[in-house]
Amino acid sequence: MFGTKVAEVRRMAQTKDQKMAAAAEAASKRSKGKKPMKDLKKYAVIAVSALVMLGAIYLAATDNAGGKKKSRDTYRSRASAQVNDRYFVSDVTSYAAGNFTAAASPFFNGWSYADVSYGLDGVGIRAEGMIGFSGALQRCPDEGEGLEGGAVPPSYDLRVQKPGCEAGPVYDQGNCSSSYAIAAATALSSRFCFSDPEAYAETHLSPQQIVSCDKKSAGCNGGGIDAVWSYIERRGLFPESCVPFAGAKSAACKSDCNQEQKRKALDHCLMGGEKRIKREMYNRGPVVIPVLLKDDFLVYKSGVYTPTDNANQQYGANGEPLVTAVTIMGWGRSEGTPYWLVKNSWGTQWGEEGYARIAIGTGAVREESAIVGYAATPEALEEDARKKEAAEKRREELKKERAERDARIREREEARAAEAAAKASSSDDEDLDFEDDEEVDIDSEESGDDP
Ligand SMILES: *[C@@H]1O[C@H](CO)[C@@H](O)[C@H](O)[C@H]1NC(C)=O
Ligand SMILES: *[C@@H]1O[C@H](CO)[C@@H](O)[C@H](O)[C@H]1NC(C)=O
Repeated sequence: MFGTKVAEVRRMAQTKDQKMAAAAEAASKRSKGKKPMKDLKKYAVIAVSALVMLGAIYLAATDNAGGKKKSRDTYRSRASAQVNDRYFVSDVTSYAAGNFTAAASPFFNGWSYADVSYGLDGVGIRAEGMIGFSGALQRCPDEGEGLEGGAVPPSYDLRVQKPGCEAGPVYDQGNCSSSYAIAAATALSSRFCFSDPEAYAETHLSPQQIVSCDKKSAGCNGGGIDAVWSYIERRGLFPESCVPFAGAKSAACKSDCNQEQKRKALDHCLMGGEKRIKREMYNRGPVVIPVLLKDDFLVYKSGVYTPTDNANQQYGANGEPLVTAVTIMGWGRSEGTPYWLVKNSWGTQWGEEGYARIAIGTGAVREESAIVGYAATPEALEEDARKKEAAEKRREELKKERAERDARIREREEARAAEAAAKASSSDDEDLDFEDDEEVDIDSEESGDDP
């Protein structure tokens, strides 16, 4: 029943409005270039539709006003309603039935759902072109399921397993839709530390640099959780201290720090599937993943989040479902429910000190859309150079093989031409048959050589 009444009223009002608007438009088309009488009709239609709209707004407004009875059924679907509405918060806790508890957090103080549509907008996967095509977002290489190195423990918490590798404190992004930058910088920092906890202890790279400098992202208006890695691969990131987080206060793209302090990513790819994500994280460190934003997640406080039955997905300005990018920091199981441990960027007073546990396989975490950004550590660079060298060598070999084969074919053709010329002087008929047979031979040999 939750929220359905107002949603229905709105839907009806909307369709009514749409019908009226369509009628008005049709009327205006009809009246084009015709008598003023038609214009009068047009204005009448517009006036009526405006009245209907005002009526709908009045109904929606009075529905919740007057303090007589604060209807619990209505607050969720209204853009002006507060995220931290205390009736809503207590309802979420009861609807969650022990899975998780809800609470107001300072991050959303004073935020309406309209603020959510604005302040968390614009984050998502922005593959330039289609997935898998060259130059676009690539799927991560398959490392083979079921191999011995593929086993992962039933629970994992990077904060415990690799202390100091969690890439600094939890951010408070404020009214700056920068989760795409924060999650990427966090994952990359953590991966450097993961690869060598001594050499890269407490690595903490700057998301503000992305917000301020990456022209292909939209700064505080969001960015691609995949595309942002292209910038990190090209330019590298300074430490947080060189370009401190400024969020919505905006900051110039500059730093006095030494370029050598930068850390780069080597490559990035798309990964799907619980097992593969766990293995990747276990072997190389955190990945970035989108979480669908439903209203009940905004007030998550503790426990294992599973979207409640009545949860409403939130949408951005262009009608796209809102997601926020988080960094997966581990996994586990609580009272039989498997979960992801994620680091969010809504301050330390949201969730479990800024972290959340989210049930696996409920659709809240988009497990088919993890982004892996490989850290350009010296070892990874060396390995990459080795692979590139091997690939180059293979290319050279193939080129040589092809040249040799072409030479063989040419030789044979020349020999055959010479033979044919010799036979032409004895018998013409015999010669033609012979040549046809040979042609077939050459074709099959060629295709056999070149799979
Ligand atoms: C966020 O910024 C926008 C644009 O300046 C503003 O309209 C909105 O009210 C702000 N939201 C909050 C919660 O401060
Ligand atoms: C509690 O979480 C479990 C596991 O995700 C889920 O199956 C169940 O439906 C949830 N209960 C409620 C009331 O949402």
